[in-house]
Amino acid sequence: MTQENPLRRWLKSLRGKNGREPVLVKALGEHDRRRVLRHFMALDSSDRLLRFGSMLPDERVADYVGKLDFVNDIVFGVYNRVFQLVGVGHLAFTSKEAHPDAIHYTDKEKVAEFGVSVSKSARGQGVGTRLFERAAIHCRNSDVDTLYMQCLSSNRTMMHIAKKAGMEIHREYGEADAHLHLPPPSPSSVLAEALEEQFAKIDYTVKANARAAIKLFGSKK
Ligand SMILES: CC(C)(COP(=O)(O)OP(=O)(O)OC[C@H]1O[C@@H](n2cnc3c(N)ncnc32)[C@H](O)[C@@H]1OP(=O)(O)O)[C@@H](O)C(=O)NCCC(=O)NCCS
Repeated sequence: MTQENPLRRWLKSLRGKNGREPVLVKALGEHDRRRVLRHFMALDSSDRLLRFGSMLPDERVADYVGKLDFVNDIVFGVYNRVFQLVGVGHLAFTSKEAHPDAIHYTDKEKVAEFGVSVSKSARGQGVGTRLFERAAIHCRNSDVDTLYMQCLSSNRTMMHIAKKAGMEIHREYGEADAHLHLPPPSPSSVLAEALEEQFAKIDYTVKANARAAIKLFGSKK
């Protein structure tokens, strides 16, 4: 990943991509589960294949969302202007034994795995990239130095994001296993993540209240 100071990098991201509004990434919690499910259910079959590596039927997707662990893992989200969840990134910490090659890259006990999806309506605006960057900085601040991501090698958009982040990519049988080595936490990486979370919380509250007000006043017409 670029060695640019994480705080400077985050401040730059506030400018937004191509003059659009900035993408703020928030850690999600139990109260977001219903919206996470709605986000995944709206992915069409080809996106589900790209996201999960197989064509999961609705029941399996519901099962996955039902089992999401908001305490030990971390699930990040991006809400659009009208308070729809348009991007979800799932960062799971797992024992390094799950990745036999990890012994070559890390002496930590745990490594991280990341999966991401962005709604079709919000693609190309930097949402996927920002979710990835937030996951990487969270790993770094959790003192985990190896971040894995698995996807199909045909997934050109994700391959582009992975390469841009400086991930090392191994391709085999149509699948790509990418990993990123992260530096240790620094005051700047901790501050960048804390600021982003604060901004995202304020943004979330404003959007949630606006949506509630529209529902309330809309229903009184
Ligand atoms: C992959 C995915 C998350 C990307 O989300 P996104 O918000 O559109 O991504 P971003 O806007 O941050 O970045 C897209 C980048 O890919 C580039 N890109 C888009 N289509 C591309 C293609 N066919 N080939 C190469 N690069 C491509 C864009 O130009 C952009 O690059 P830039 O930032 O250098 O300008 C989204 O397409 C998605 O949800 N796909 C289905 C699920 C999936 O594939 N998940 C990943 C597996 S875990």
